[in-house]
Amino acid sequence: MSDYFNDLVRAACEARLRSYSPYSRFRVGAALLGRSGKVYTGTNVENASFGLSICAERAAVFRAVAEGEREFEAIAVCADGLVPTPPCGACRQVLLEFGPDMVLLMAGDKGPDGTVKRYTVSELVPEAFSTFAPGAGEGTR
Ligand code: THU
Repeated sequence: MSDYFNDLVRAACEARLRSYSPYSRFRVGAALLGRSGKVYTGTNVENASFGLSICAERAAVFRAVAEGEREFEAIAVCADGLVPTPPCGACRQVLLEFGPDMVLLMAGDKGPDGTVKRYTVSELVPEAFSTFAPGAGEGTR
C-alpha cells in the first residue's frame, strides 16, 4: 500500500482514540482524504439516547462538507480489535453520495501494521439507490 494510504490509516487510528463511546465501548476513527489534499477526521460520538449516536465515517463526511469540500479520494476506517470493521450500511450510502470510486480502507487497531482491506465504495454498495438511477425524478416529483 502507498505511504499516503498508510498515513491515512494512521490518521484514522489516531482519531479513534478521541471516540466518545461509553455505551458500546467500541471506538472507531475515520480519516477522509479530500481532492484538495486535506484530511478530515471523524470519530463515533454516542448518546444516552442510543439512536442519536453517529458513526465515525459520517462524522468525517459531514465535517468535510461543512468545511467546503465535496469530492474525496479515499477514506480510512480504524476500529478497536484486530479485525478490520466494515462500515455500516448508512455510512456506505452517505459515502456513495460523494463518490462511488472513493477508495475505502478498513483497518484494525494495529493500523497499517495489521490487516488492511481495500475496496471502492461502489463495490460495497451493489445495486445502490441513487437519484441518478434511471427513472429517478419521474412521476410525482
Ligand atoms: N460505528 C461506527 O462508528 N462506524 C461503523 O461503520 C460501524 C459502527 C460505531 C457506532 C457505535 O458508536 C459503535 O460503533 C458500535 O456500533
